[in-house]
Amino acid sequence: MDLRSKPHRLLRHSLICVFVVCSVLGAATRPRRSALKDYSLAPTPPMGWNSWNHFGCDVNETLIREIADALVSSGMKAVGYEYVVVDDCWQIDRDQAGHIIADPKRFPSGIKALADYVHALGLKFGIYSCAGRQTCQKRPGSRGHEFQDARQYAAWGVDYLKYDWCNHGFQNARASYETMAEALMSLERPIVFSICEWGENEPWKWGRLVGHLWRTTGDIVDCYDCTEMGGSHLGWTLILDKQVGLEKYARPGAWNDPDMLEVGNGGMNDTEYQAHFSMWCMLSAPLMAGNDLRNMGPQTIKILTNVEAIAVNQDRLGKQAKKIRDEGDQEVWLKALADGHRAVALLNRSKKRTRMSVAWPEIGLKQEQRVHIRDLWTFKDRSDVRGRYSAEVPGHGVVLLRLY
Ligand code: GAL
Repeated sequence: MDLRSKPHRLLRHSLICVFVVCSVLGAATRPRRSALKDYSLAPTPPMGWNSWNHFGCDVNETLIREIADALVSSGMKAVGYEYVVVDDCWQIDRDQAGHIIADPKRFPSGIKALADYVHALGLKFGIYSCAGRQTCQKRPGSRGHEFQDARQYAAWGVDYLKYDWCNHGFQNARASYETMAEALMSLERPIVFSICEWGENEPWKWGRLVGHLWRTTGDIVDCYDCTEMGGSHLGWTLILDKQVGLEKYARPGAWNDPDMLEVGNGGMNDTEYQAHFSMWCMLSAPLMAGNDLRNMGPQTIKILTNVEAIAVNQDRLGKQAKKIRDEGDQEVWLKALADGHRAVALLNRSKKRTRMSVAWPEIGLKQEQRVHIRDLWTFKDRSDVRGRYSAEVPGHGVVLLRLY
């Protein structure tokens, strides 16, 4: 075939065009190998506070300083809460060289001074950006500025980046998060990478190689089982339902993130908040408080600082709980712990107080085995329990147990 003749020239041009288009598309969609992620940055689920759930866009440096102070004075720092994360709306523009600019009215001292303040309290500092051109609140996103932004965060002393997924157009999710991961990994400064992609592109399948935690759903709402925004924003029990089957993806350094805590935000009663907190501990979820730490009642502090529930969350084995029985409103969840211990949650989703039980064979114990049981909310112990354990569970409540 003579490719120089006119019809064949046309064919040749078409083939070249197809080749070029395929290469470009291929390069855009082919997953790149990321540099080696530092798993040791999040050996257990990160703990801290984030501004979004309570304050939305209403953030400023005074608030963040007061919250950091309260994290210490409330006793939360002492039980493991570490990161103070400013979510959307701290940024306002870019300068001519493309550097991101913090809102000078709300952060007049600048982000570096704020990070220094947080560090001086022995805490770590986190910030928010977005893989798209704009954040969800229409502030500048990091698309096209990933390495520049990462360098800026490091210069400010940022320890944690939450990276959102609004306004991404036709971007490939994995590739977008890999670009920022590579930017972060090119720095001297270790930065925890929190992927906030809402579970749209199954981040549990690739997030482990790219970041330290990945959101599995749309936003949490401060309610037991309501939905908002056409069903994309969910009360915590509906988020819980979406974690079933994801347990195999969680491990030290890589966590499913069912979104931040609503404990203390006022939309639920204490029994419901206690159940929410307990189940987040069972799920090995990042424990990012989302309430106003400056104004907490004693019940809220009691829930957020329950060291025995937190120990279940922070257990070094890093296993996420599995739902082992579902009887409609009554559910039993099991989480394997280090040293062969087990955590069991009896969750009563009905409004009525209900007697619930767990039998040894369903949690991998022999029927005749004598087991020590510690209730992680009443702090009462029972030893030499054989065969099964039963307890009254309040409506919308939980009984959280450690067995060994
Ligand atoms: C959402 C994200 C929220 C919060 C908000 C800020 O996409 O899921 O957690 O960060 O954006 O605009």
